[in-house]
Amino acid sequence: MIVLMAEVPALVLSAMHEALADSDAATRELADARLRRWWPDVRDGLAAVYPTHDVDEIGARMVAIAARAVAQRPAELRRLDLERTLRPDWFQSSTMLGYACYAERLAGDLVGVREAVPYLRELGVTYLHLMPLMRPRPGDSDGGYAIADYRTVRPDLGSVDDLRALADELRANGISLVLDLVLNHVAREHEWAAAARAGDPHYRDYFRLFADRTLPDAYDQTVPEVFPDFAPGNFTWDDDLSAWVWTTFNSFQWDTNWENPDVFAEYLDIVLFMANLGVEVVRLDAIAFIWKRLGTTCQNQPEVHWITQALRALARIACPAVVFKAEAIVGPNDLVHYLGQGRHHGKVSDLAYHNSLMVQTWSMLASADARLAAHALQAVLPVPSTTAWITYVRCHDDIGWAIDDADAAAVGLNGFWHRTFLSDYYSGQFPGSTARGLVFQENLDTRDRRISGAAASLTGLDAAREGGDDRALEHGIARTLLAHALAMGWGGVPVIWSGDELAMPNDPDWAEEPGHESDNRWAHRPRLDWHLAQRRHDPASVEGRVFQGVAHLGRVRAGLAHLHASVPARVLDLSDPGVLPVLREHPLGSMLGLYNVTAQYRPFPGYRLSGLGINRAVDMISETAVAVSGDGNVWLPPYAFRWIVDVAPGAQ
Ligand code: GLC
Repeated sequence: MIVLMAEVPALVLSAMHEALADSDAATRELADARLRRWWPDVRDGLAAVYPTHDVDEIGARMVAIAARAVAQRPAELRRLDLERTLRPDWFQSSTMLGYACYAERLAGDLVGVREAVPYLRELGVTYLHLMPLMRPRPGDSDGGYAIADYRTVRPDLGSVDDLRALADELRANGISLVLDLVLNHVAREHEWAAAARAGDPHYRDYFRLFADRTLPDAYDQTVPEVFPDFAPGNFTWDDDLSAWVWTTFNSFQWDTNWENPDVFAEYLDIVLFMANLGVEVVRLDAIAFIWKRLGTTCQNQPEVHWITQALRALARIACPAVVFKAEAIVGPNDLVHYLGQGRHHGKVSDLAYHNSLMVQTWSMLASADARLAAHALQAVLPVPSTTAWITYVRCHDDIGWAIDDADAAAVGLNGFWHRTFLSDYYSGQFPGSTARGLVFQENLDTRDRRISGAAASLTGLDAAREGGDDRALEHGIARTLLAHALAMGWGGVPVIWSGDELAMPNDPDWAEEPGHESDNRWAHRPRLDWHLAQRRHDPASVEGRVFQGVAHLGRVRAGLAHLHASVPARVLDLSDPGVLPVLREHPLGSMLGLYNVTAQYRPFPGYRLSGLGINRAVDMISETAVAVSGDGNVWLPPYAFRWIVDVAPGAQ
């Protein structure tokens, strides 16, 4: 027998009822139903992570927090909960198009962001990720990822009321607000850290502290360094604490101790606070790192998924409109677990970054060869049909060459040398490369070199604009649009980093701002140039061609149900090493994406189209029939892309 609604322990039920004592009967009834639906996920998650605690007791404590948030949830957001419960696949729709930026770099402050809404709508945006905007530590704050107060907005951006008003305005315009939950660490200046430094044992237990180097040295044997250049090591000595504190990222970002259920309770409360402000997608920052285990890399530990499961189930009780997005920039085998595998199927994050697709896009463009990408992407395990990938050309972070040695070997490449080639290529050191990326965090031990750079600076478009060579300019534009087409034609939520829609290059003054000088990721986080944006309607300008090209892809995409994220994207075997074929088998019919990653005309055999059931093939981007030439091939011009569907009568 399938049990749809679980028995909830009396202790847990009464915790909920007590918190909702002043709510009306309908609210209580709904909360009860949600609790019965989600309790098993809460229970299993908490039991796995806190085995020495009584799960009913700890569950009751967390459910009480969720119930208090139910009581405080604004009426409009309750309506959204209802809508989303009726349409749980809302974030999988092909109408989803994301945009990510720093509020001040887009438009000065939160009021400015409201004023930028018409611009975002023009681009087709339905999802807006604003970089961390809660109050960070003073000085260098790792781009806001060192938070001093989770409940106050950075004063130069506005207030919590402004944030709420912005969320309302976005929602009224069909745009979901996405904010980070920075849950792996807090700033050294955060009140928990201050209390720990003052010697309060309760708060000392919020962190991972070590009296001497014995354990840090043991962990360091297997834990890699994230910022080997400006923050080497994973531990920092703090005089106030008189201890070593775990600091995966910068020395001022103190890792929180998730083995302590008080930390879980604090973050649950913060998630629900954000949700009740109107945040619709919570980005779980650096989620891979939150659990540590001696002898491992201290990433992707099983407890990470149990914690996500419990946290998400509690959020489903309080605010079912909200979905979770995992920021886990890890290898493909670990990555799929963030969308749920095995017993976590459909129970963890709803969204996760498709880091492999992003890396393979750049690898294809550098090598003019799709073989490695095809092999690596074919090997990515399927993810639950209720989830979606975040697809992206690049984001606010650097690009690390997450290319598996075995994948490289399978296509006759050496992983190390291919990664070296990519770093050389994108930093412009490889002969013939016109890319203008910057080397980020060179690791002298592993010889790993990550890359910073705006999309137009990496595709060669930036250099081509200055070179005066028409062919190079055309190729630069085509390569830039090809990268966007790959992200937008995959399925899931494509997210554009601010400025890339206008082909903005690296910010030449990135190092001028205090605190930024050693972190060249700021090169690819430019302030949006509104003067440049005015040219977006000029079809003769580069900005106009890229902006209109991207907006057009978004519009075509929105009309193609084939791109609903419940349907997987499948890379087919290659006929030509320069053409990547991506198939989406939707009940409406097949959709075939073709991407020529080379500077030459390349063929795709026409017979393969009918083999896929596509008889009257139309490219939906150009709305023209796909022509098969006399030699039986569909010929793709340099860097061309097609989204092909069957328009035979009855096929649509
Ligand atoms: C995430 C962010 C990155 C930040 C790190 C530490 O990876 O994307 O920008 O440096 O977390 O918070």
